[in-house]
Amino acid sequence: MTGHHALANETIPRYAPDVGDTEQAAMDRDYLGFLSDVAEQCGAIGQYQRRGAPVVLVNTPELTRALLVDKAGDLTKGELQRTAFQALLGESVSMSEGDRHDRLRRLLAPLFSHRRITRHAERIVQTAESACVGWPDLAETDLFDELHRLTLHTLGPVLVAEPALWVETGPFWRARERLWLWINDRTSERRGLTDHAADAPDSQVAADIKTAQDAVDRVVRARQQSGTGPDDLLTDIFSANAGLTEPFHPSEVRDQIVALLFAAHETSAVALFWSLYLLAGHPDVRGTSGAGDRKHSWWAHTRGPGPAGLAPDPSGG
Ligand code: HEM
Repeated sequence: MTGHHALANETIPRYAPDVGDTEQAAMDRDYLGFLSDVAEQCGAIGQYQRRGAPVVLVNTPELTRALLVDKAGDLTKGELQRTAFQALLGESVSMSEGDRHDRLRRLLAPLFSHRRITRHAERIVQTAESACVGWPDLAETDLFDELHRLTLHTLGPVLVAEPALWVETGPFWRARERLWLWINDRTSERRGLTDHAADAPDSQVAADIKTAQDAVDRVVRARQQSGTGPDDLLTDIFSANAGLTEPFHPSEVRDQIVALLFAAHETSAVALFWSLYLLAGHPDVRGTSGAGDRKHSWWAHTRGPGPAGLAPDPSGG
């Protein structure tokens, strides 16, 4: 929740690291363990510093709902989010505020109903299964990278069923990949979105943003001209938009697609990554979750900067 700096005030409990330790060292050592410590020490809401910027950790469903839904109108996106993401995410729901945000939410939210999403379930499962089959048994796999690829291959065609966009050697994929690395600062020694706050996008970033937006733009305009489209979210957005008294412009539709892609990709991949990581350290839970059914021996090889007590299962379960 960086960006909502107004929240980080004295009424919110401030996390204090152990004597002789620092917040940054604790984060670098074991990020998940650090967050657990903040939650344990501060309770439902707490704050800490990350590279000099205040971060608020909200830790109950009720407070999360209050922040993101009930009180959303009282909060701004914050300068950081605007500076870092405006060029890429333009007029999207994730960048907008106030009335415009409400209108975009009313357009998009019904498209994510249970009924509408489950119609894609079979395709998603098939894509995910064929991706996992390629993972080597008894060999080292970088789950972090694999889960990002998996998420994109499953999510991408549901957003826009345009195969050319999802070819890994294609210009859209490569531009998106570089942008993702840039957002996550995996291209340099600097880490964390906060480092981008004062930056204008450099020329490579600007070129990649243009490549990614233009690629989606072409699909959006072709669909608009033909008046039809395959069974994907873009077609859903077009139909819903056509029913509005003041429809959004095609470039605004494009911004929603780009924003949905970036909002859904990293979050889902990271959630899957930590879930598998935690399951790997808890064979007892794994047995009842269904996740162990495939008996992949890569459980035995799961390793990473895990917190104490979550060591990988040496027996392979
Ligand atoms: C485990 C997976 C996910 C997590 C943890 C997650 C988390 C979040 C959070 C915390 C926000 C609020 C950000 C803010 O206001 O500062 C957000 C916004 C958003 N997410 Fe997700 N998300 C996930 C998956 C997805 C997926 C699958 C999609 C779409 C297919 C999606 C689309 C969006 C959009 C459009 C917004 C902006 C909403 C708005 O501003 O009203 N997310 N997400």
